[in-house]
Amino acid sequence: MTHIAMSGLTEMQKYWLITGSVGPRPIALVTSLARDGLCNAAPFSAFNYMGEDPPLFAIAVVRYGSESHRLGEEKDTLLNIKEREEFVVNMVDEPIVERAVQCGSDFPSHVSEPEAVGLTLAPSTLVKVPRIAEAPISWECRLFRILDITNQRAIVFGEILAMYFREDLIDEEKLRVRVDRFEPYGRLGGPNYCRTTDRIRLPVPTYLSSAGVPRE
Ligand SMILES: Cc1cc2nc3c(=O)[nH]c(=O)nc-3n(C[C@H](O)[C@H](O)[C@H](O)COP(=O)(O)O)c2cc1C
Repeated sequence: MTHIAMSGLTEMQKYWLITGSVGPRPIALVTSLARDGLCNAAPFSAFNYMGEDPPLFAIAVVRYGSESHRLGEEKDTLLNIKEREEFVVNMVDEPIVERAVQCGSDFPSHVSEPEAVGLTLAPSTLVKVPRIAEAPISWECRLFRILDITNQRAIVFGEILAMYFREDLIDEEKLRVRVDRFEPYGRLGGPNYCRTTDRIRLPVPTYLSSAGVPRE
C-alpha cells in the first residue's frame, strides 16, 4: 500500500486524492433564485444526506478557483441561498447528465444556466425557486444552517420540505422510491462519471434475531 500524509500537500493535491477516493458521489443540480429573479443552476457532488428527522442534507461550496475567470468570487448558488434561504435540489440521471455538467461551467451571474443548456424550469409548490422539469426527483428545500469552514469554503445544510417524483418512480401505497427504476449518475474523480444500472441486493442480516426489527 502507498501511504500519503495530507500534511505538506497543496490544496489541489488533496482535492485530487480525496475526490478520487470518494465515489461514486451523488450529484445535486441546485436551482436557486437571484435577487432579480434570475434562475441559477449548478451541480454539486460534495453532497449527501445527513438525516431524516429533521430531513437534512449537506452541500460543500467552495469559491471559484484559479481555473475560472471568476477567481475568488463566491458562487451564485451560495449567494442566492444566503439571500433567499430556499432552493431546489434536482437529481441527475442519464437524460440530463450532460446538461447538468454544462451548468458547472463558470457562467457569469447574469446568465441563467437552465436556459443556456436547454433545461426546462417548472414551478415548485412550497418554495419560489423553480425545479428542473426533466429531473427524475426534485427536493424543495429551505436553508437550515451555513457552516463557514474557511473564507473559501462553506457547508450548506438544507432541510427538505417536500419532494417531487416522476410518477413511475414512486410507489405511493408503500411510500417508497422504486429504486429499480431510479438511475442516478455518480461522479468519480475529475470528469469521470458512472451509471448505476448494474445492481445487487445485499440485505443486512440481523445479528440477534430475538431483538430488533429486520431491515428490508
Ligand atoms: C459534477 C460537478 C460537481 C461539482 N461539485 C461541486 C461541489 O461539490 N462544490 C463546489 O463548490 N463546486 C462544485 N462544482 C463546480 C460548480 O458546479 C461550478 O463552480 C458552478 O459554476 C457554480 O455555479 P454558480 O456560480 O452558478 O453557483 C461541480 C461541478 C461539476 C460539473
